[in-house]
Amino acid sequence: MHNPALETLGLDWRYLAFDVHPEQLAAALKGAQAMKFIGLNLTVPHKLLAVELVDELDDSARMWGAVNTVLFEGRTAQGEWKPLRDCGPDEIAELRSRGFNTDADAITRAIEEDLRLSLRGAKVLLLGAGGAGRTAALKLASAGVGELWLVNRTLSKAEEIAAEIGRRWSNLRVRTGYPPEKIDLAINATSLGLRAGDPLPFDPAKFALNRAGAAYDMIYRPAETEFLRAAASAGCRVANGLGMLLYQGAKALEIWTGAAAPVELMRTALREHIYGA
Ligand code: ATR
Repeated sequence: MHNPALETLGLDWRYLAFDVHPEQLAAALKGAQAMKFIGLNLTVPHKLLAVELVDELDDSARMWGAVNTVLFEGRTAQGEWKPLRDCGPDEIAELRSRGFNTDADAITRAIEEDLRLSLRGAKVLLLGAGGAGRTAALKLASAGVGELWLVNRTLSKAEEIAAEIGRRWSNLRVRTGYPPEKIDLAINATSLGLRAGDPLPFDPAKFALNRAGAAYDMIYRPAETEFLRAAASAGCRVANGLGMLLYQGAKALEIWTGAAAPVELMRTALREHIYGA
């Protein structure tokens, strides 16, 4: 999605993938900085490690405790720090890295846009309390959902997140377990559904999808998981995780370029690349 977007923006830049061992992350970040990369993305398990390794943390990275986007900055002789895209080759006196998080905002944007749903005041069941589940839970809390139920195979992880939300957003009603009533949205943030034959991410004896108005699966490959198939047959509005991938990328591109991201072009590029259509 990034390379077609860069071309459209008229930038002679390239987005490339590098395989970096976690023990080499510090060296890789310093190397990218020394080579005056404009910026980069990080994925699991680097997102947490990078919090300690970047020179500056944007509020977004501080808020969610993870870095998925890095912007390299240069200090001019006048002492001003600016993105490397705005620095002339000879004016850089010093380099530094700034970490951002674009994942969390992408979760709520994707849910609200792709499911045409307002999260403020909504009743939400969140399945999964791993890395993705934790960020989603905290972001839903900050978006002002009305009630939040957390379910996870390992209950203690859901309880820890509920406790953290209780400390940071004390007005929100957050509980572990299944909702006894109708809800607006059920979200799958577990890895169940990635592989063919995976069981559903919830216990059908304790919850039925016809109690949910909409269902969101953070998984985007396969395009339709068993969870989404069951939700669609139960009459829910459904969306998969492609929007999350798209919106975190669009925001990262805006951080690097300072320009508005060509979102629809990026969506088409993603769809073609992932689904071949
Ligand atoms: P991610 O970064 O994608 O969130 P993760 O942190 O490994 O990955 O989290 C995976 C999530 O899927 C967790 O909620 C995990 O449940 P546990 O916390 O109990 O491990 C859930 N998950 C993975 N395999 C599962 C399975 N077979 N049954 C139920 N839940 C499962």
